[in-house]
Amino acid sequence: MSPADRLLGRRHVLRLGVSGLGLAALGAAGCGSAPVRTARSTVGQVDFRHALHIPPLAEPTRVQGDDGARLTFDLAAQEGRAHIVDQGETRTWGINGDHLGPTLRARRGDTVIVRFTNGLSETTTLHWHGMHLPAEADGGPHQMVEPGESWEPSWRIAQPAATLWYHPHPHGETEAHVHRGIAGLFLLDDDEEEALDLPREYGVDDIPVIVQDRTFDAQGQLVETSHRNNGMLGETVLVNGTADPVLEVSAERTRLRILNGSGARSYAFGFEDGRTFAMIASDGGLLPAPVRMERIMLTPGERAEILVDMEPAEEVVLRSFPQDLGLTRGMADSTGSGDELDIMLLRAAQTLRPASALPSILARLEALEETAASTVRGFELRTNRINGRSMDRGRIDEVVTAGTTEIWEVWNDHGQPHNVHIHDVQFQILSVGAEPPPPELAGWKDTVYLPPHERVRLIMRFSDYTSTEIPYMYHCHLLWHEDQGMMGQFVVVAPGEEDDVDVAPRLGDDGSGPREPGPHGH
Ligand code: C2O
Ligand code: CU
Repeated sequence: MSPADRLLGRRHVLRLGVSGLGLAALGAAGCGSAPVRTARSTVGQVDFRHALHIPPLAEPTRVQGDDGARLTFDLAAQEGRAHIVDQGETRTWGINGDHLGPTLRARRGDTVIVRFTNGLSETTTLHWHGMHLPAEADGGPHQMVEPGESWEPSWRIAQPAATLWYHPHPHGETEAHVHRGIAGLFLLDDDEEEALDLPREYGVDDIPVIVQDRTFDAQGQLVETSHRNNGMLGETVLVNGTADPVLEVSAERTRLRILNGSGARSYAFGFEDGRTFAMIASDGGLLPAPVRMERIMLTPGERAEILVDMEPAEEVVLRSFPQDLGLTRGMADSTGSGDELDIMLLRAAQTLRPASALPSILARLEALEETAASTVRGFELRTNRINGRSMDRGRIDEVVTAGTTEIWEVWNDHGQPHNVHIHDVQFQILSVGAEPPPPELAGWKDTVYLPPHERVRLIMRFSDYTSTEIPYMYHCHLLWHEDQGMMGQFVVVAPGEEDDVDVAPRLGDDGSGPREPGPHGH
């Protein structure tokens, strides 16, 4: 029996009522020999009954200096057990705890020192997703930490307030390590954000919402399910590691910092009653102004901060609606984008902290000008390769000069869903296909969805931190694709050092490589 058959078999058992999670619209229709996954719905079928876990704020040692503090965080990866589902205690991984990790928090100008110890039985890394920092502090596949060993990266926070996150990044094992439970938020603060009248009491009206889909077996253990085309899809959606989560809301207006921490699944978050919310921040920080929305789509690795208003004593479900990823029906079903999933119940108290008026302006966003760009690079994503090549830790694919602005044209040249994440920088989106970015994509981003056959143009500035040796990564953030090699490496070098790097020639240089940037026909 193939893993896929086993999965479907299990689903049928679940459907007969072994699990409390209702599974609707499940089909096992055969298509050739491969079973086909069809869209599923958990609408109205999740028994919300567990108080949402709020990851604790990490408590660094703090030494105040004249221009910011020095914060030292002690983080230890460990194996543990967590009570998540009724079937039994789940063996999990976590940081300073059994499952997931604490929320780190620092201000612009602070110097961060992390003392990370790997208490796991496998080599891993810890990567600071969205952070501008020196390549040796990045925690990618070049900063492997052996079991029992420690690693001590340090950098100064030099970017706006934002909801960033951290997760392991060992090449080939990232999906598994995140799946077992290592991930957490890294919140950045600054004066500009703090001057705004926004909910900001952590765990009270400012809530971390880490969304991850997992499958559990009859003993409550995590199941590494079939990868199919795009990576593991889970049947149960956890928020901050909590199944069937309930958020007790105590304010008229609540800020949700939503992270899609799943490996392969995308979500289109909204509320069951269609109420709108105000989106205030994307991956890299505040949007210029709040954007009224009914749905926000987040692909793996993306974040959004939203403000939702509630009346006293009311309840509303945060739901993920089917997403339009631009895929064929079969591909959409196999990547879960047709699924409709109840995520979390928000339950408002009888009396709520009053909300003040929503600020109409949030941040001044300096638009990066196309005319300032000195280099345009093209990246074609297809069949787990970028520009025809599979990730090789020994190969530098691109050399970037510090102090320059570049345009990266990225296109997904086949029918599978991909996104692209670039380390070290936050970028702005110039266009998606022929269109300018919609408002939710018009702020700072570090990860963006790539609809099949559409060219997405990104602009970014590479500032400081140079090395001719240690690269940063760019890759698809569907973790299975990344693990399969859909990743490349770039170095940022000082002006004049470009020739010191032994860079791999582009395959296209001899006519054998990728075609010119799309869009191509469908
Ligand atoms: Cu969130 Cu290279 O990773
Ligand atoms: Cu991908």
